[in-house]
Amino acid sequence: MPQNTAPKATEMLSATPQGLARAADLLRAGELVSFPTETVYGLGADARQGAAVAAIYAAKGRPSFNPLIAHVASIEAAKRHVIWSDQAELLARAFWPGPLTLVLPLAPDHGISDLVTAGLDTLAVRVPAHPCAQKLLAAFDGPVAAPSANPSGRISPTTAAHVRAGLDGRIAAILDDGACDVGVESTIIGLATNGLAVLLRPGGLATEEIEAVLGQPLASRDIKDPLTAPGQLLSHYAPQARVRLNATSARAGECYLGFGRYSGARACDLTLSETGDLAEAAANLFGHLHRLDALNQPIAVAPIPETGLGLAINDRLRRAAAPRN
Ligand code: TXA
Ligand code: MG
Repeated sequence: MPQNTAPKATEMLSATPQGLARAADLLRAGELVSFPTETVYGLGADARQGAAVAAIYAAKGRPSFNPLIAHVASIEAAKRHVIWSDQAELLARAFWPGPLTLVLPLAPDHGISDLVTAGLDTLAVRVPAHPCAQKLLAAFDGPVAAPSANPSGRISPTTAAHVRAGLDGRIAAILDDGACDVGVESTIIGLATNGLAVLLRPGGLATEEIEAVLGQPLASRDIKDPLTAPGQLLSHYAPQARVRLNATSARAGECYLGFGRYSGARACDLTLSETGDLAEAAANLFGHLHRLDALNQPIAVAPIPETGLGLAINDRLRRAAAPRN
């Protein structure tokens, strides 16, 4: 068998100085390293090396038109790759490091592989808050392209074990530093040069907080326009099992994913948050879906309020429930 098709043993690294130095060396060598962020585990590659970025698409089996987020260590580092604006400054000062991604026009001499942008003239950038991600970006000292570290279309990983279950043998290493706090991906805001701020994806930062800082409402993306919503495939984040939404109770044969206190005592009943706390529910969402999916039964999901982080939770649940193609 030719060497490049042989499965690789995936190294498990911890967030020690040695583990982080090894992870940074692997990224420099064009290898793939999964690392924790506060939202979900990312599958990282050097965003300047086309072959390394291509390997992300191959490992995930991801459609090639779906652009990636470049993770950087600081606002200064972001400015090397995108054209900055007053609105970007306002949002970055308020929310970076944190679960917010900004889509901005690419700067001249941005140095980013077009496989990261999938040929668009904009780049999604974010400064993650997780200490392990921060240390890795500091050690690597360059932009790291990273989608969520799951096979394309499957549930996003919030622990190193989830990453291993999906990608073992397909990537060089996994940096393990526990479970992710936020649990859903970053909120993505597109900042157009005409001052329009567009919500491209609801996520781990509530839109109300962003609107309060911007002092204007967010525009919604035009789902008919592939440029404002690339890669927003309807069926995504999908467990193997069928998912039924807005279910106030389980039917025969279904597992139940509840929200708030409820009396389901079966092993296949879980609640996203006993107290009805949306932040806790977001943090539990993918882990609970992974657990229920392993039981191989259809999953009924309780109604989730459509406010704050509920927007992101409902967005992911609707994708999980969408018909597969
Ligand atoms: O929390 C997160 O955002 C995680 C962690 C690892 O940082 N990453 C993540 O990446 O969720 P991914 O690849 O699963 O989702 C990136 C989203 C995709 O929906 C993609 O279409 C959108 O960002 N995106 C990337 N670049 C874009 C661009 N230039 N314009 C519009 N959307 C873009
Ligand atoms: Mg993803």
